[in-house]
Amino acid sequence: MLRVGDVVTAYGQLEALKGVSVAAESGKITCLLGPNGAGKTTLMMTVTGLLKPKRGSIAFEGQELVGLSPSEIVARGVALVPENRLVFPDMSVRENLEAGAYLRRKPAEIAADLDRMFERFPRLKERAGQSAGTLSGGEQQMLAVARALMSRPRLLLMDEPSLGLAPLIVEEIFRIVAELNRDGTSIFLVEQNAHMALKVAHHFYLIEQGRVTFSGSPGQLAEDEVIQRAYLGSKRG
Ligand SMILES: Nc1ncnc2c1ncn2[C@@H]1O[C@H](COP(=O)(O)OP(=O)(O)OP(=O)(O)O)[C@@H](O)[C@H]1O
Ligand SMILES: [Mg+2]
Repeated sequence: MLRVGDVVTAYGQLEALKGVSVAAESGKITCLLGPNGAGKTTLMMTVTGLLKPKRGSIAFEGQELVGLSPSEIVARGVALVPENRLVFPDMSVRENLEAGAYLRRKPAEIAADLDRMFERFPRLKERAGQSAGTLSGGEQQMLAVARALMSRPRLLLMDEPSLGLAPLIVEEIFRIVAELNRDGTSIFLVEQNAHMALKVAHHFYLIEQGRVTFSGSPGQLAEDEVIQRAYLGSKRG
C-alpha cells in the first residue's frame, strides 16, 4: 500500500534520513520504533509532504507522492496524527473535527462522520463545544485521532500517540488503534512504547540514526533487544 524507497531527507547539511526504505501493507498495523532523534518524525513528515526528500520515492497505492502538496496527499487517502497532538487550541472540539474534513465537499457525509466520531469517542461528544486547549492530554489525543479520521484516510500515520499519557489512557489509545485497523484502516504507527507497539503490530521496523536497522515481525527479535535498541540505539556502550 505504501512503499518508501531509499528516501534521504535533510535539514540543511544534516541528513536525518539516510536512505530509508519501509513499507506498510494494506489492512495491517506497521510500527516504527527507534530512539530519540532517529528520524521517525522526519519520515512521517516526508511521507505526508510536509518535508521534501532530497532523494527517493514514496508510492501510495502505486502512485508517487513525492512532489505533491500535503493537502493533495490527504486527498489521496493518507492522514497524519502529528507528534504532540497539535489540536487547534482556541477552536472547539467540533470545529477541530470539521477542520479535519476541510477537503471534503459533501456536508451530509461530513455530518454523518461527525456523529460517528462522537459515537466512537463519547468524551468528545460531551465536550463538543469546549475549546480544544482545555481538554486533558488524553482527550486531546483522541481529538487528534478523530480529526485525522475526518479526512477518511485509508492509511493513518500516527506519530507517538501515547507520549506522555497515563497507562490507562495509553491502553485506550492502543485499543482504538486495533479497532480502527479491524474496521479496515491501515496504520503506520511511530511509538516509544515498544511493549505496547509489539502487541498490536503485524510488522515492525527499527530505525537508528536515520537508517533502518531491523525489519520483521514481533517475535523475530526478543522484546528486551527491541526495547534496548528502540530507546538507546544499538551503537551504545
Ligand atoms: N527542523 C529541524 N531542523 C534541524 N534539524 C532537525 C529538525 N527537526 C529534526 N531535526 C534533526 O533531525 C534528526 C531526526 O529528528 P526527528 O524529529 O525525526 O527524530 P525522532 O525519531 O522523531 O525523535 P523523537 O523520538 O525525539 O521524536 C534529529 O537529529 C533532529 O535533531
Ligand atoms: Mg519524533
